[in-house]
Amino acid sequence: MAEIYRASTTAPVNIAVIKYWGKRDPKLNLPTNSSLSVTLSQSDLRTHTTASCSPSYPASDSLLLNGSPQDVSGARTQACFRELRALRKQLEDADLAVPKLSAMPLKIVSENNFPTAAGLASSAAGFAALVRAIANLYELPASPTALSRIARQGSGSACRSLFGGYVGWEQGSAVDGSDSVAFQVAPANHWPSMRAIILVVSAAKKGVSSTTGMQATVATSSLFASRTSEIVPRRMAEMQKAIQEKDFETFGKVTMMDSNSFHATCLDTYPPIFYLNDVSRAAIKVVEEINASAGKIIAAYTFDAGPNAVIYYLEENEVQVAGLFKAMMGEKEGWKSERGEKVQGNEQAF
Ligand code: PMV
Repeated sequence: MAEIYRASTTAPVNIAVIKYWGKRDPKLNLPTNSSLSVTLSQSDLRTHTTASCSPSYPASDSLLLNGSPQDVSGARTQACFRELRALRKQLEDADLAVPKLSAMPLKIVSENNFPTAAGLASSAAGFAALVRAIANLYELPASPTALSRIARQGSGSACRSLFGGYVGWEQGSAVDGSDSVAFQVAPANHWPSMRAIILVVSAAKKGVSSTTGMQATVATSSLFASRTSEIVPRRMAEMQKAIQEKDFETFGKVTMMDSNSFHATCLDTYPPIFYLNDVSRAAIKVVEEINASAGKIIAAYTFDAGPNAVIYYLEENEVQVAGLFKAMMGEKEGWKSERGEKVQGNEQAF
């Protein structure tokens, strides 16, 4: 029996507070603006991936996600496989005793413990886990920064899931994308009281994929140019300062404004893209009510390319935010009936 080489890893979801929206190079997934996110804890929303290879495997690479075979022939997945194999090949060429894993077919098995493609950043955790699992299998001496450059080619936001805590993605300027990588703004323990509650408004697959949506926004939105040239660069600086100073009021305000700005460019796309629905808007109202009664910003909403709300808050405000939020949303007509299922709030500790 031929030997089977195997490595496993998990990668957490990250939720952006300054959104990536727009590609200047769709092939390399190079963004039109820098972005910044918080990586959630590994304990809840995460992808678990095992990568294995063997000369005994069927000739072509394969990927199983939540038990279903996936197409690996797409350019994104192929780019990740190609880059990782090339790095392994360098090790094999440098030392002939190193087993020739780069020539063997790969079998990837991934499990998400949350809805796939529902605006819950499943592709971020998915590609981050895929890249790190193969890098572990190949015993590559690659840093998270180096792996982020590869994961970015699978899914842009995946580059940020290679780091924990507060993570930036520098848009870079090189045409080959070599400087479009993730960096850690601060580790999770710098500001450990940060919490997020995720309200799964809909577990259905999103209507417009992020790639399609981004391309349409770049091509047609009149708001887009000022977002990328002025608004986001200013907010990147404000957000990094807020994180360094653990200033939740600024963190929260910039988070909400940037989510609004991103969804405004979606509405400004022609034909328009609507990711938020009535339940999403009800969640925004609840956050506004919570902040109004606190007399300051203690809760901040943000939405990706789907209707699900992520609410950031500090542990000290658990009762006012998570407690009140659940109670208020539970009373709202339509909150439950819209989805025909229970409100699902996943609390994340960092
Ligand atoms: O990585 P993608 O192609 O799934 O794009 C993600 C885009 C947003 O989630 C909407 C924003 C972000 O920065 O994560």
